[in-house]
Amino acid sequence: MARLSVMDPSIRAMFHPASGLTYLDTATYGLPPDPTLLAMRAAEEAWQSGTGVWVEWDREAERARAAFGRLIGAAAARVALMPGVSVGVGLVAADLKPGDRVVMPAAEFTSVMFPLLVARERGVEIVEVDDIDRLADAITPGTTLVALSLVQMQTGRVLPVAEIVERAEAVGAQVLLDATHGVPFVPLGDVIDRIDYVVVAAYKHLLCPRGVAFLAVREDHIGRLPPIFSNWRSSDAPYSHFFGGPLALAGGAAQYDVSFGWITWIGAAASLELLVDWQAAGALDESVALARDLAGRLEIPWGGGTLVCPPIDDPDRVRAALAEHRLKAAFRGTALRLSTHVYNDTADIDRAAAIVAPLLAHRVSA
Ligand SMILES: Cc1ncc(COP(=O)(O)O)c(C=O)c1O
Repeated sequence: MARLSVMDPSIRAMFHPASGLTYLDTATYGLPPDPTLLAMRAAEEAWQSGTGVWVEWDREAERARAAFGRLIGAAAARVALMPGVSVGVGLVAADLKPGDRVVMPAAEFTSVMFPLLVARERGVEIVEVDDIDRLADAITPGTTLVALSLVQMQTGRVLPVAEIVERAEAVGAQVLLDATHGVPFVPLGDVIDRIDYVVVAAYKHLLCPRGVAFLAVREDHIGRLPPIFSNWRSSDAPYSHFFGGPLALAGGAAQYDVSFGWITWIGAAASLELLVDWQAAGALDESVALARDLAGRLEIPWGGGTLVCPPIDDPDRVRAALAEHRLKAAFRGTALRLSTHVYNDTADIDRAAAIVAPLLAHRVSA
């Protein structure tokens, strides 16, 4: 087995998966570090006692905006804050006009796909591509928007975004990327400024509470994309303008913000700032190395990120084995989905490989 770097033990000490549980299910939900829960509990107490100051709670979300921008390598002014991925996709979908053409994988995640399918009802053409390897070929002149996930949730495969962006640029199409299963492990550095819209749900690999998502909007769309969810928080004076017009919106992508669940965003700020530190210290590389190692041990191709999705053909048997050995993972289609994070170590990978390898479709039928 490849030797992995030794991670700062103080990072793992911030997490508390149940004793005896091997948690390889971050792609379903990430575990919160101690500082996140402490910050949320302090806010809950202030809420309970009535001593909390709502403007202070509200401002905490700005820390999350800044940290997320750093994680993806984009200016904070390009980042809008929202409660879920479909809100960001819905915003982009609202900009589509009859006759526009959207290209996306046929098996794209529903929160990306559904808001775009709704646009079909007003005359937007939707092209669903069955073979993911033909996605770039389907981006032909007349395509308006290409929508895809950076990491396929069913296979763990990182899609060739640079190639898709190049193809989209060649025909004048926009790109909407759901990078939920990529950030903070799959770097977007080289292409981030060329992608029109990047949406990310933060409750998985970004270790945030549920109800936190981001839409990074490229500069040329800020102010052009209709702010259909405009609200008091997205105004130019959120702490003083509560009644009446005119429609005066915040500068930057904050004009697309949707009012914040305060305690949720307080937790998000804490998790995201830790991730920024860990990314800078190189501590996230080990999670990727663990996933790569696990893929090798299960004799399947490594997808390029932290998701490892070996094919199975007897889900009941696999479910029973996982329950017996207290290994937490997910099922997606005909594959098991295992995913690593900073709280995992080589012992987790050893255990998972020993439990899962004998159950895999290619091993059972060999
Ligand atoms: C690729 C992807 N995007 C987004 C989400 C979350 O979507 P939403 O924010 O609509 O709950 C998931 C959840 O499984 C996902 O797999």
